[in-house]
Amino acid sequence: MRSPVRVLELAGASVLVYGDAPSACQAAAERIAETTRAAVANKGRAVLGLATGATPEPVYARLVAMHREGDLSFANVVTYNLDEYYPISPLDPRSYRAYMHEHLFAHVDIPSNQTHMLDGTVPEASVADHSAEFDRWIANDGGLDLQLLGLGRNGHIGFNEPSDTPVADSLKLPTRLVDLHHVTLASAARDFGDESRVIPRALTLGVASILSARAILILAFGPHKAEPVARSLEGPMTSRVPGSFLQAVSGKVTWVLDEAAAQGLAVRSTVASAVKTAR
Ligand code: GLP
Repeated sequence: MRSPVRVLELAGASVLVYGDAPSACQAAAERIAETTRAAVANKGRAVLGLATGATPEPVYARLVAMHREGDLSFANVVTYNLDEYYPISPLDPRSYRAYMHEHLFAHVDIPSNQTHMLDGTVPEASVADHSAEFDRWIANDGGLDLQLLGLGRNGHIGFNEPSDTPVADSLKLPTRLVDLHHVTLASAARDFGDESRVIPRALTLGVASILSARAILILAFGPHKAEPVARSLEGPMTSRVPGSFLQAVSGKVTWVLDEAAAQGLAVRSTVASAVKTAR
């Protein structure tokens, strides 16, 4: 098991800082594998909330390697993905369905009927029903054992974008169709070739479903994530920075950072003094 170079307790979360992103990804994969094995042993199956984006790609590569080495089975894993562009075909290579197939599902023993993605092909008149149904499926499956998250450059989680909504209302947001924020459109240009070609709307798991997971593992690497990380962990809880909503659930959130993403944190010391400084 990789050891973090620093461990902080901030805003009710454990913050594990690794020397580099590959070490952090290996540690994250080990955490996911442990949760999976424990849930399967205890109740027969594991229910995982999965994320897309560049950040978790090496984590999925490590999980695939564990599977190939015979250390991890997905036969009893049920997955729910965080988000999907709308509208989009699952066959479109830019869809998150295609991403998950490419990075995980095609390489492990997960039955396809156990992988759930928000459907970018439902007619717009049915989007609200489909979104509500997705939340119900998660609840009927007993809730998420672990939600894996990335963090947008603008602090978004899933596609819950910065807004002026009062925090109390944001925390209750269900799964729904959203307009993407201009910073998200710029970041997604990488996948669409050009910002003007980015699909500007998406379906996203709601803040309420994310926060209901029994454990949340959020990953952020690189200097471009330093500001949203610091604002999420050391700033006030605000709808301007959706990552700060994780402050609402104490004791079940683990941040896995590399040194570059942690560099904006004012608190840099060990657990004991970090707790003191943060209060
Ligand atoms: C994307 C996804 C998020 C992801 C975030 C960060 O747009 N919708 O779920 O966590 O933005 O992406 P990346 O890991 O590529 O920086």
